[in-house]
Amino acid sequence: MAVRKICIWPDPALSEIATKVEVVDASVQTLVQDLFDTMYEAHGVGLAATQVAVAQRALVIDLDPLGDAVQDSEYAEQLETWGFKGPQAFINPEIIASSGSIWWEEGCLSVPGITEKVKRFAEITVKALDAKGEVFELSASGLYAVAIQHEMDHLEGKVFVEYLSKLKRDVVKRKMLKLKTHTDDGVEAALT
Ligand code: NI
Repeated sequence: MAVRKICIWPDPALSEIATKVEVVDASVQTLVQDLFDTMYEAHGVGLAATQVAVAQRALVIDLDPLGDAVQDSEYAEQLETWGFKGPQAFINPEIIASSGSIWWEEGCLSVPGITEKVKRFAEITVKALDAKGEVFELSASGLYAVAIQHEMDHLEGKVFVEYLSKLKRDVVKRKMLKLKTHTDDGVEAALT
């Protein structure tokens, strides 16, 4: 169990295109576990290996990181509608079907404090390997589909702010560089 350091955009590690995982061995399983630990520690709902400077095609998602669905039946129902069935690792994920489009207000642990609307496919079917190296397919919509697409972008070296206009992106970049300076000074960045 280990929490790794999350890279803050525009860290060059976030622009790396991740390579395919050839074998889901113990080191990949450790990576997946660390991604979960790091994501939970940062209160995120998704994290890609690229964000911890590991250029391998692996990501994790948990839309219910605090376990709220047990008490909140409305949220539990929502999660079910989106096709979410619990914490999931995706290794070498591929979108094999997609339809519709949806705008969603997105945030990113690598761009703390910033949220912006991004257009994504409304429904997707994804094929991937799980943490045991077994192939699975699942269909996702709503926030689940958005989160998977957001994390898969990270594997392509793409951060959601790159969908914004240059003007907006430059404003975000200045904020992040300032934040990075503070972080380097030992002041912890807010990652909520
Ligand atoms: Ni992100």
